Formats: sequence, structure tokens, C-alpha cells
Amino acid sequence: MATINVVIADSSAESREQLNNLLSGDTDINVVADASDGREAAELVKSMRPDVLVCDVNIGGMDADKLTEQVVLSQEQCGVVIVSSVSDIPVVRTVMQAGAGDFLTRPLDRAELVDSLKRVYSTVQKRRALASGGGEVDTKGRIVTVYSPQGGSGKSILAGNLAVALAAHGSGQVVLVDLSLQFGNLDLMLNVSPENTLAGLAQKYNELDAQMMETYLTKHDSGLKLLSAPSTPQYAETITVYVVEQVLEVLRESCSYVVIDTPSGMQDTTLAALDGTDDILLLTTLDLLALHNTKTALDMLVQMYPPEKIRLVLNRANSDVGITPEDVESTLQFKIAAHIPSDGRVVVTSVNEGMPFVMSQPNAEISRRIVGLAYEIMGKEPPDEDMAQFVAASAKKKGMLSSLLGVGR
Ligand SMILES: Nc1ncnc2c1ncn2[C@@H]1O[C@H](COP(=O)(O)OP(=O)(O)OP(=O)(O)O)[C@@H](O)[C@H]1O
Ligand SMILES: [Mg+2]
Repeated sequence: MATINVVIADSSAESREQLNNLLSGDTDINVVADASDGREAAELVKSMRPDVLVCDVNIGGMDADKLTEQVVLSQEQCGVVIVSSVSDIPVVRTVMQAGAGDFLTRPLDRAELVDSLKRVYSTVQKRRALASGGGEVDTKGRIVTVYSPQGGSGKSILAGNLAVALAAHGSGQVVLVDLSLQFGNLDLMLNVSPENTLAGLAQKYNELDAQMMETYLTKHDSGLKLLSAPSTPQYAETITVYVVEQVLEVLRESCSYVVIDTPSGMQDTTLAALDGTDDILLLTTLDLLALHNTKTALDMLVQMYPPEKIRLVLNRANSDVGITPEDVESTLQFKIAAHIPSDGRVVVTSVNEGMPFVMSQPNAEISRRIVGLAYEIMGKEPPDEDMAQFVAASAKKKGMLSSLLGVGR
């Protein structure tokens, strides 16, 4: 189940806390913000783009039906669940006619509230898919693999930050898979402590389904979930091609996006991932050896896959080292799809703090480029507003202030 981002709107602090407590127990639901009046709620929906607004019928500052209509018809197409202390039929009719997805009366039952949110969210997803011209709702997720034949080219940095950008800007669940099986480090990069990893999953891959998969995922504050590499290298060989195939099959059904980080070289598990991949991000840098290896890898990739499946990404694109991005394009005979600048200060601080820079340094050029790439993958135009600020606002509301001292810089 995808993570459902929720905004709570209630004029009573006590009721807001009660709603928060009821929802906090469900791992699929993420309360991103709360508002004490209708106008604030409308603003939050605009800036935070939640999936569902849970709103008290007597919210001050704006009539609940006006707020409902505004939110449902907004660009965000947020769903609305109205809660009330009394079941007043004319009021119920007014808010339902305005577009509310459900009306619940207090005292609230946790299971009923969660179930209502999930049903409303499912309608929101369908509406969004139709609005984006998708017609039939495609429930299959997109698999994006970051690959480079060259060690240390920035695969993990790109995969981690791209996945966070997709989780923060897109809708639905995003899972980051660490296929760097011997020396995976995405748990460190995200500052999470996985209880289960691919090593445990490999023992049971024959029985794997979406429910079992959840127990092997570790949630990050950005909303994405990590399928971590084994904690020690000796488990790497237990993760076979069949395990990878099974993992991707299950994740594709339950996620919007799956981002895979790979080791350098060409392992059979990496090939299995590339076979199931929709977008191969072939990462290269401005040095002769990397370029040579990228050419060999690209020649192989274009023989195996349609070229539109491959996006060439140039990391440290602004380095002044005697080779230019134009040289790369003419040597490889392939267009560069994204230029990621070099920024040692931002990257190293982010790694040392365990906080992806698309969140902690949203305005840095390197973050903006990766968020831009995320939008390209989503097939959407980046919003007019400062999209990096959007990630910052979202993170801030998720209570990550202490580690986000750089927000807005
Ligand atoms: N755009 C960048 N600007 C500055 N430093 C960067 C950039 N990209 C990567 N780095 C640095 O390069 C190093 C290698 O990055 P990373 O671990 O992402 O590479 P990798 O390709 O995953 O390596 P491996 O092949 O070992 O898995 C890190 O120390 C990181 O801080
Ligand atoms: Mg790596």
C-alpha cells in the first residue's frame, strides 16, 4: 500500500491530537501537517499536496463545504474526509455534494477512520490518473535502475536522493532497493537501522508477496521505504537472480516507483534488475577511464534494450578537467539526459549527517537537478513554484527540523 499523506484540520487542539494519535499507528498513513482553521488548511493543501484532508465539519475561517469544494477541485485533487460530532443529514448532504469522500461521526473508531482514508485515497488515485491523461489506472510501478560500470561514480548518492525526490514529489509508494549486495550503504546514507534485509528475504523468496515484503522494508522519514543490502558481505551470494526477479515482480505491483542502486561492474543480479527496468540511468563522469568504461557498457546496453529505456546522466558535470559534456556526447554518440553538478560540501555534509541533500539542501543546484530528473521520470512538468522549497516544506512538517537546519538556504 502506498503511503497516504494526510493533513488534519480541526479548530480544537485536543481533537487534532486525537486524530493524530488515531492515525499514527498505521504505517501506510503519514500525517504531514495540521491546521486550526479552514484558510490555513487550504494553504497547506496547496503547499504540501497531501492525498487526503481530514476536516472537522465546524472548522472555523471557512465553511467546510466551501473548503471541501476548493480542495477537491484544486490542482492537487486532494480527497476529503469530514468528521463531525453529530450526524446532521442536511450538513452531510452539503459536504458530500461539495465532493467529500466520506463523513464520519465521533466518537471515531480507529479502524473505521483508517479504512475511510484508504477508500478515499483510492478514489483520489483514480482521479489523478484520469486527469493526467492516463485513462485506465495503471497500477504497475515504474522501475528505475542507477547503473555505472565505474566504481565511485556517484550511483548511491544519485539513487538515494532520486528516490527521496520521487517520494516527496510523487504520489504512491517508493521503494529504494540496495542491490550493492556486498557493500551496500544506503542505510547509512538515510540514517536508518534496518531490522530485516535482502539476506533474510532471500531465504523465503518463494513465498514472497506484498504483505511479506512490507516486513523487509525500512521506512524513512521522507516516506520512502528501503530494502536494504545484507549487513555483511558474506550473505551477498545468497541473493540470486531468482530472488531479484521475485522482489521486482512483487514491488512492481505494490509501488509507484522502485529505485535500484547497483554495484559497479556487471553482476548477474544487476543484469536481472536491468531486464526488469523501465528507466536505466547510466551514470558517468568527466574522466577518460570512466568514459571508456561507459562506452563499453553503453554498447552492450543498446544491444540488449531499446535506447529510449536508457538515460545518460553526467555526474560532476561542471568539473573543469579538460573533458567537456559535449566531448562526452560526441564520444558516446548519446545525448546526456541530466547534468548533476559537483558539490563536495553539500554531498559530504549530507552523507555525514545521514540526511539526503534533496531534503536538507533543497535549493542547492545539485538537489534541483535531481528533483528535475525525478519529474522527468514521472513524466510531469515541474511545478512553477520553487520545487526544492516544496521538499523542504514537506520535510519540515514531518518533524525533521533538528536535522534540517539548512532548510530554505
Ligand atoms: N556530484 C557530486 N559532488 C561531489 N561529490 C560527489 C558527487 N557525487 C558523488 N560524490 C562523492 O563521490 C563518492 C562516491 O559516491 P557514491 O558512493 O555515490 O558512488 P558509487 O558509484 O555508489 O560507488 P560504489 O561503486 O562504490 O558503489 C562519495 O564520497 C560522494 O561523496
Ligand atoms: Mg554505491
